[in-house]
Amino acid sequence: MSAPTTRLVPPRGRVREYRPPARLTSQLLAARAAYVLRGNDQGVMTSAAPRLYPHMWSWDAAFVAVGLARLSVPRAITEIDTLLGAQWGDGMIPHIVFSPDATGYFPGPDRWGCHLGDVALAPPFPATSGICQPPVHAIALQRIVEAARRQGRSDRQAAGDFLERAWRPLVAWHRWLAEARDPHGHGRVAVLHGWESGMDNSPRWDGPYSRVEVGPDLPPYTRKDTAVVTDATMRPSDREYDRYLWLIEEMRRVRYDAAAMYETVSFAVEDVLVSALLAVACDVLADLGEERQQPAADVADLRGWARRFRAGVAGSVDPVTGLARDRDLRTGEWLSTPTIAGFAPLLCGGLSRADEAALLAQFEGDAWCGHPDLVAAVPPSTSPAAADFRAREYWRGPQWPVIAWLFHWSFARRGWAERAAVLREEGLRLVGAGDFAEYYDPTTGEPLGSMQQSWTAAAVLDWLC
Ligand code: SER
Repeated sequence: MSAPTTRLVPPRGRVREYRPPARLTSQLLAARAAYVLRGNDQGVMTSAAPRLYPHMWSWDAAFVAVGLARLSVPRAITEIDTLLGAQWGDGMIPHIVFSPDATGYFPGPDRWGCHLGDVALAPPFPATSGICQPPVHAIALQRIVEAARRQGRSDRQAAGDFLERAWRPLVAWHRWLAEARDPHGHGRVAVLHGWESGMDNSPRWDGPYSRVEVGPDLPPYTRKDTAVVTDATMRPSDREYDRYLWLIEEMRRVRYDAAAMYETVSFAVEDVLVSALLAVACDVLADLGEERQQPAADVADLRGWARRFRAGVAGSVDPVTGLARDRDLRTGEWLSTPTIAGFAPLLCGGLSRADEAALLAQFEGDAWCGHPDLVAAVPPSTSPAAADFRAREYWRGPQWPVIAWLFHWSFARRGWAERAAVLREEGLRLVGAGDFAEYYDPTTGEPLGSMQQSWTAAAVLDWLC
């Protein structure tokens, strides 16, 4: 197994000096995190971030619920109830649930066109997008149930009732992913838009996006994100946005029919990280179902999907680098760009002991968390040793605290307590000044993107409370 060993490539463009401010005490940091979540609370949904993302995002909502569970079990339950209330008739959980009270985000409900009556499966209200995001919701359910165990009887009762009513929607969601997004049983979930991966402009998608030809009839649009994050180098480019918007056009034209989308949308990639998360989520849900006497047939289906997707992730591993790979469904080729997704098998298991040890060594080694130029030893979104690395550009290099939380949670679940503790400590070092940024420059620790990001605050609350 060979890991890249070249030294850090300095960030392109302006190189800035950044002096990190002093770290807050744990108590103050937790109090500020709670303040962020309260500030972003719209009543029954938490906006993902105050200005950049003023609605509910699917995987954000799950992480937000993990943090909220530390403050109020009933409020955490409400968050997921709101999300499940927007589930489509076929089981898909949409990636955005639009708040009727918020404006200022593009593409909004009219551009998606899901609520206009000709998309049979979409709920009439609330308005939603027409794509999905990674299935981390069972993790939120598990964390809510666990938090309730430490509380009084009424919280335990509320969590038990919630599990009863969330069971069928969550099983339906996992079934939809397994059937609509892996119709040929490869054991890998297809994403049909980079946004579905949650890692919009990761270099893992550069190849597939280069083959998306934007039609001349792309309706005109004006971006709003760059009015909020005014340093455009932190956001995807206009060229990338044209492709994002074009894919929505393609989906709209087939009325978001899942089978037609799988066959025709010009971006279709089997995503190893989403697949690993589905495998884990199926096991987590099956464990809860067994404990709470949910239907045995559902539990058996969940276990079957967990096995299938775990095998699909393991089967994607590059024999040369040891990293898991995505696969472009339109060309059949494996995508070997070294990004954080390559470590997907560490989330779901399925590798031999020796291969897993080698992958862990790589995760902690000098091309990743142990890179000598990192301010905090949590995984960057792209290896700082790779030619594609951009220290400040969204999913092309920055460290995302929520991803550190996800690996921390998975490592703890897998019994790797010391490794989990290190990720927690280092994650807290990254966010210690209390900005709750969306992402951070790994080489300076500078907070980037949107501040007061809900899921960053939620991760911190879970770490500290
Ligand atoms: N992350 C996307 C955005 O930047 C949407 O899912 O708008």
